[in-house]
This record gives sequence, C-alpha cells and structure tokens, in this order.
Amino acid sequence: MNVVGLMSGTSGDGVDAALVDIRGSGLALSVTVLAFAPTPYPADLQRRVLTLCSGGSVAEVCHLNAVLGEWFARAALRVIKKAGLRPAEVAFIGSHGQTVQHLPQGIRERGLGSVRSTLQIAAPTVIAERTGIATVADFRPRDIAAGGQGAPLAPYVHYLLFRHATRSRLIVNLGGIGNVTHLPAGGSLSAIRAFDTGPGNMVLDGLVHRLTDGRQTMDRDGRLAAQGTVDTGLLAELLAHPFLKQPPPKTTGREAFGDPFVARVLATMRRRRLAAGDVLATCSLFTAVTVSGARRWLGENLDEVIVGGGGARNRTLMGDLAAVFEPTPVRRLDEIGWDSKAFEAVAFAVLAYQTLHGDCANVPAVTGAAHPVVLGTVVPGKQGWPSLFRKIGKNR
Ligand SMILES: Nc1ncnc2c1ncn2[C@@H]1O[C@H](COP(=O)(O)OP(=O)(O)O)[C@@H](O)[C@H]1O
Ligand SMILES: [Mg+2]
Repeated sequence: MNVVGLMSGTSGDGVDAALVDIRGSGLALSVTVLAFAPTPYPADLQRRVLTLCSGGSVAEVCHLNAVLGEWFARAALRVIKKAGLRPAEVAFIGSHGQTVQHLPQGIRERGLGSVRSTLQIAAPTVIAERTGIATVADFRPRDIAAGGQGAPLAPYVHYLLFRHATRSRLIVNLGGIGNVTHLPAGGSLSAIRAFDTGPGNMVLDGLVHRLTDGRQTMDRDGRLAAQGTVDTGLLAELLAHPFLKQPPPKTTGREAFGDPFVARVLATMRRRRLAAGDVLATCSLFTAVTVSGARRWLGENLDEVIVGGGGARNRTLMGDLAAVFEPTPVRRLDEIGWDSKAFEAVAFAVLAYQTLHGDCANVPAVTGAAHPVVLGTVVPGKQGWPSLFRKIGKNR
C-alpha cells in the first residue's frame, strides 16, 4: 500500500512528508521509501508556531489548526507528485500534526482526579478534504487516555525496522529535543527502553536565532560551533540541569530547553566574555553529553549508536557524539539505508498503517500506558469508508 507520513516536530521548522510502500502486517512489515519532500514553514509561521507553544490565544490555536492543515495537505500533495503518483493511488495519510501542548503529568480536577492531555494541531479534516485521501491523526491522545505519556511513539517503528538479533542498538533522534530508543540484541517489544535525553537542536537553534537577530534559524552543518572552543565553566553549569538526573521514563520540551534556557546561556556568555562560536561549541558538546548520559539507565553495553533527525546533519554535533560514545561506533541512519531527515515522517505512515489494520502500536513499556491501544482518529477520504475498508481487506 502507498501511504504518506507527515511530521512536524518541536523545531517547528516545517512539514516532512514521506511516501512509503508498506507490506505485511503486525511486527512483520516491509517498508520502502518511494519519495521524501520537506516543506519548510515560512520563517514568520515558524515563529508563530513556536510562540503559540509557550502561550497563545484560543483564537490563534483555532486559526493555526486550519493554517497548518493547509500546509500539511500541500506537503502531502508535493510528496505524491514527487513520487510520480496520483492522490487516488495513495491508500491513506498518517499525520502527526504539530504539538502545541503536551501535559502528560496531569492537572487535578475536582471529581476526576488527575486529568492528562496533549494537543496536536493541523486539522486532518482539512488534509482529507484537500487531498481526497483518508487521514489518520491524533496518535498521542489514546495512549494518554490509557494512562501513558503519549510519547515517544517512534520506538515501535524503530523496533519494527531496526531490531537486530545480535547487536544492541541505540537509536538517537535529534529533533528539537533529543531522544533515544534502546533495542537490546534479540530483545522483545517489551524490552525496549526509550526516553528524552534533553535538547537535540533546540538550544543550538535558539542561540543562533538570538545571536543573528533572527536572520538564521540554525548553525548549518555546525560550522559556527566548529570555530569555537568549549568553555568548561559553561558546560558544568549546563550539565547541572535537573532533567538530566531524572530517571526514565521522562519527556521534556520547550518549557525546559526553550527561550528561557537560551536566555540564561546568553547571560553566562556575556558574563564569561565568550564568543558566539564558543557558546555553540559548548552547547553542542552539552547536547552530546546529555545523549550519552542515557547509558546510565541502560543495563547493557551498546554495539552501535545510530543517529537520525535534522541534527544528524550537524557535523560538529556528530563529531561530539562520536567522541563521547567512543569506542562505540556512531553512525547516521543514512548509513543503514534510511534518510535521517525522513525517518519520523516514515514512522507516522507506519503507525497509520497499524491503526487502519486494527493493530496496537504504542509500547506500554515505553509510554507507561496500562495496555496496548490502537492509536489515532480517522477522517475518511473522498471515496468514503467502503473503498478504504476494501483496500485494507484486500491487504490482509
Ligand atoms: N544541515 C544542517 N546543519 C545543522 N543542523 C541542521 C541541518 N539540517 C537540519 N538541522 C537541524 O535540524 C532541525 C530540524 O530537525 P527535525 O528532525 O526536523 O526536528 P523536529 O522533529 O523537531 O522538527 C533544524 O531546526 C536544525 O537545527
Ligand atoms: Mg522538523
């Protein structure tokens, strides 16, 4: 089946779209990427999205839900075109949406106890209407309702595609936030450990944005950081962050490593009279150390570390990772045949496939959910339910 996966992560940099051919069922899937197309948000939209995450009006949530629905639909149509297909040849879309609020720790409500929630926007109704294709979205809320953190969800797909009989692998995703999935050699789904480690690109992006007065959104290829020298005083200060000591399961986000954190780093920079390159070099190493710190909670030695996400393109950060994991080899997802930038989008195509086949795709050992659940909500496409069910029935 041809399936489109759509993803926009905590960097809010745009929609990544992957068109994949998926066959098989359950834990025996084969997945082939036919095309990948990133659709960056215009710079002002990225700022609006990031600002919304730290507090915006309900009117803005309502409006951006529709705006992002349009962008996600465009991203889907672009990747379909790039693959040389027509929308009618795509069975369905899996869309993660854009997280604007994630409150898995819960808030006490009289008579209800602790109520936990998460909100991803980019209206799937708009995506289905513009593309004519059935769209699965809202993957996280069902896991939350079942008592889980609603995240991370990619580990299930890591297990499907990257588990190895004899090699113990650590999959690292460097999006806005960094997270790891440990796949023990020959382990079962319930042996997976996965959690957030701290920042991925978030601190580096935030610093570059501030240091260039908004002219640049990232330190491309890690070039600025490569010119600097690590400042051990700043590094020690950063490593004192309480999140790093917290045992898993744990998740973090912009509230911990967003603008206020970046502002504190800049204050230290001025106090210690550091150059921009020095601060970036230090934060790059800081990011690498937080990722390798994951080993503290994994009970076994690693045979290899495999890195995906936009941060895998940052050479300085990759160099720092190689140094802190040494002698364990650190490779990019690309080296084992997967576009490192495309992978998260592929993951949501796979998760949608499981949803429509009625298969549970959360990993309770990872999210803390009370039981496995079928994730997501489904919006029918132009041809309605019967045609979708026929396609899926034929596939079974
Ligand atoms: N060539 C590059 N050099 C350095 N950093 C990069 C490069 N390409 C992407 N990135 C980083 O990756 C981030 C986007 O990564 P992505 O995996 O899309 O994260 P998210 O899932 O949070 O959206 C960018 O904000 C940037 O920091
Ligand atoms: Mg992104």
